Amino acid sequence: MTASLPGAGARPAPGFAPGSAAGTSPGRVQGPAPDSSPEGPPASGAASLPEGPGLSPCLLQVCGISKTMGGKLLLDNVSLTLGAGELKVLIGPSGGGKSTLLQCIHFLTPPDSGDVLLDGESAREMSRRNICLFRREIGMIFQDFNLFDHLTARDNVAVALRRVKGLAKKAAYERALSELDRVGLSSKALLYPSQLSGGQKQRVSIARALAMDPKVMLLDEPTSALDPELIGEVLKVIQDLHDGGMTMLMVTHQVGFARHITEEFLFMEGGRITERGSPEELLREGSGSRTADFCSKLSEIQGG
Ligand SMILES: Nc1ncnc2c1ncn2[C@@H]1O[C@H](COP(=O)(O)OP(=O)(O)OP(=O)(O)O)[C@@H](O)[C@H]1O
Ligand SMILES: [Mg+2]
Repeated sequence: MTASLPGAGARPAPGFAPGSAAGTSPGRVQGPAPDSSPEGPPASGAASLPEGPGLSPCLLQVCGISKTMGGKLLLDNVSLTLGAGELKVLIGPSGGGKSTLLQCIHFLTPPDSGDVLLDGESAREMSRRNICLFRREIGMIFQDFNLFDHLTARDNVAVALRRVKGLAKKAAYERALSELDRVGLSSKALLYPSQLSGGQKQRVSIARALAMDPKVMLLDEPTSALDPELIGEVLKVIQDLHDGGMTMLMVTHQVGFARHITEEFLFMEGGRITERGSPEELLREGSGSRTADFCSKLSEIQGG
C-alpha cells in the first residue's frame, strides 16, 4: 500500500498543538458554543483561515450548524475545524447526532442554519452546480460500504470516475486499479462484492472515495459492520491515509486506535459537541471527562 496522496495537505509537523489551527485552546467545552467562539460563523461571512508558523491551514470549517428533523433538534449550533492533514475523531452515545453531522457537513442533508466552508468557500453561498463540486471534494465512507453488487471491485471504482469525472473507460480502469492497489486490493479487482470480505468491501469503498481526489474524508463508523479480525486491515488503510496527509473526520468506537491517531476527540451528545480536546488531555488518569468515562465503558465492552 502506498501512502502518497495527490492534493493532500502535509501532515502537521511534530509539536503541532491540537486545536490550535482554529485558534482555540484544546479543552473541554461545556454548554453551547457561543456564536462568537473562534470556531463559530465568521462575522462577515468571509472565511478566516489561520495560517502561520506551527499552524496547518484550516481546510474545513463547520460554523454553527443546526438541523431539525421530524420536529426534533438534531444538531444544535455545532462548530468545528479541520486543519490540512488533521484527523479528528467524533465519539459519543448512540443518537447523539454524529451521522447527522457528517451528512450536514457533506450537504447531503443541508443544515437549517450555519455554514460549511471548504478551503474558504462557503457551501451556503454555492449554486446547485457548485454544491455538486463541493460534495465531490468531500469523500464519504459509510459503515455499510454502499457498493453496487452487480459491479466488480474495479467497476465500482471506475463507474464514479466515468460518470462523475468523465474519464474514458481505459483511463478509468487504470485509475481504479491504482486506487485498489493503494488499499492493497489489486488482486481482487475483478471480484464482485459478494466474493469479498467485509474488510475488503470497505477498502473498495475507500478506494472509490479516493479516486475522486477528495480534500477531506468523512468516515462514519467505517469498521462497525466488520468482524473483529477484519477491523485491523481497514484501520491500517486509515492509518496510511493519515500518514500520507489526508484530512479526515471519523466517527469510530475503536478507541484504542483512535487515541493514538487523532489530534482531537470531539464528544457529541444531544446534538452538541460537549467536550473537545487531545486524547492526552481528555483521557489522562483522573481527568473526570465524559470522554474518558465513555471510552472506558467502550473498552470494557470491547474487552480492551
Ligand atoms: N430523518 C430523520 N428524521 C427524524 N429524526 C431523525 C432522522 N434521522 C435521524 N434522526 C434522529 O436523530 C438523532 C441522531 O441520529 P444520528 O444517526 O445522527 O445519531 P448517531 O450519533 O450517529 O447515532 P449512532 O451512534 O447510533 O450511529 C436520533 O435520535 C435519530 O433518531
Ligand atoms: Mg451514526
